[in-house]
Amino acid sequence: MRTISELEAVARERLDPVHYDFYAGAAGDELTLRANEEAFSRRVLVPRVLRGAAKRDLATELVGSPLSMPVLVSPTAFHRLAHPKGELATAKAVAKAGTVLVVSMAATTAVEDIADAARQAATDPALWFQLYLQPDPEFTESVVRRAERAGVRAFVVTVDSPVFGRRERDHRNGFHDLPPGLVVENLRDGLGRVRDIEMSAGFTWEHVAWLKRTTALPVLLKGVLHPEDARLAVGAGVDGLVVSNHGGRQLDTAVSTVDALPALAEAVAGAIPLVLDGGVRRGTDVVKALALGATAVGVGRPVVWGLAAAGEEGVTEVLERLREETDHTLALCGAAAPGDLTADLVR
Ligand code: FNR
Repeated sequence: MRTISELEAVARERLDPVHYDFYAGAAGDELTLRANEEAFSRRVLVPRVLRGAAKRDLATELVGSPLSMPVLVSPTAFHRLAHPKGELATAKAVAKAGTVLVVSMAATTAVEDIADAARQAATDPALWFQLYLQPDPEFTESVVRRAERAGVRAFVVTVDSPVFGRRERDHRNGFHDLPPGLVVENLRDGLGRVRDIEMSAGFTWEHVAWLKRTTALPVLLKGVLHPEDARLAVGAGVDGLVVSNHGGRQLDTAVSTVDALPALAEAVAGAIPLVLDGGVRRGTDVVKALALGATAVGVGRPVVWGLAAAGEEGVTEVLERLREETDHTLALCGAAAPGDLTADLVR
């Protein structure tokens, strides 16, 4: 099996350079993009010995969805730019791996079709749906209902995007729109027209409360980095948080996610689960995040690299590689399961 950086190199060769930049790039000077990975490298593991298990159990659970391992797939836009089968290929690989796919609101495939593909690949696959709240509440509600009917099991509301991030590679390359033939399928309205995703800096906790009233499914917030916001989320009845800086694509110089994690874990004090994404490339990264208080991690770009390199099989390769490395790292740290990992193993 290839490493994620090897798969990225293959993906880079296969992709149109403008699309590669869209996936690889981030906001501003891309400092947060780099910081996410560097913050993992800077941390060292202090393993325990003589207390592991001959066979590790990687399974976990998040807001009612079972995961075969503590790694899920974070929402990323436009999979059909990476591979003709796009989100369908991703969904099959993730369903077969037994973990959660967070379908992006900006997917280039309709959520109903993604759900069908997942169900063809596995019984009872766990799909969640990522939502950008839209200024038109009726339209937001129609998207929520559509995702519910498709069978998603949770909503992930991305709250780190009150405005679009400034991705300078895209500006330089003149990449603003999907090529002809591809659209954001989940933004079709009742008349079949495709709306643009609108960002708004006008959303508040009131809107989160509205969504909680509007759906019975669990609601997670994605993009929380400040511990005070984590406390507010618990108070608002939010079901979980994704500790994320959007892979460095929104606020450049935002804190790396693994640097932010300990204070967030302290703030929620186990009341709700935390998922961390940003810079996870190795099983050792997964173990560090779990030890510091995450229940699972999300991967964004690695899945796109697998998809671009080899379609469904490439996504499978990425996920199985992370599974194998996480298991191996648990063994080397004297842990039988994710629950055995504690903050004292990371320095
Ligand atoms: C993203 N991300 C993202 N997040 C979101 O909530 N909705 C979205 O549509 C997208 N789209 C998207 C596209 C691309 C190309 C990238 C790279 C990222 C952010 C994503 O969910 C996640 O937070 C980061 O990708 C995690 O960082 P890594 O794993 O890419 O380092």
